[in-house]
Amino acid sequence: MNLDVVSRSPEQTAALATAFAAELNVGDLVLLEGDLGAGKTTFARALCQALGVDGPVTSPTFGVAHRYDARIGRIAHLDLHRLGELGAFDRDLVDDELDDADLGLVEWPSGAPGLEDRATWRVQLGHASPSERTVRIESLSEATR
Ligand SMILES: Nc1ncnc2c1ncn2[C@@H]1O[C@H](COP(=O)(O)OP(=O)(O)O)[C@@H](O)[C@H]1O
Ligand SMILES: [Mg+2]
Repeated sequence: MNLDVVSRSPEQTAALATAFAAELNVGDLVLLEGDLGAGKTTFARALCQALGVDGPVTSPTFGVAHRYDARIGRIAHLDLHRLGELGAFDRDLVDDELDDADLGLVEWPSGAPGLEDRATWRVQLGHASPSERTVRIESLSEATR
């Protein structure tokens, strides 16, 4: 799946994430890029729910990762923004969390240079208006092979 569209509501962004969930395989690592409020967590939440996670999915802003059990296996949901700010960034910890998971979702991946090398998808979200977001989904594994 490669996609470049404008979402006109949080519900539309969630629907895109639901469709994208069907494309995912065990071992995938999804980078979620975009400014604060661009919709990274909205996207991640719908993705997790589509994969059978029940219970809340929130931004793991104050810890390293949230872990969820899903049909695909174990999901690790990371947010590296605040980690970088706090200077508490530990690259080994990030790698360990991702190694332990069957699917990785990383908000603010720019906090961890080199993470791109193991990523299989890039999702870029951008502000287009108060209620509109550009949504771009790119398969990294297809692009590099
Ligand atoms: N089209 C849209 N897609 C996604 N979120 C939207 C959209 N329009 C408005 N929003 C709002 O933007 C905010 C996105 O927040 P969030 O998903 O937490 O972003 P991030 O994790 O990137 O900081 C939510 O309050 C959501 O309701
Ligand atoms: Mg977030």
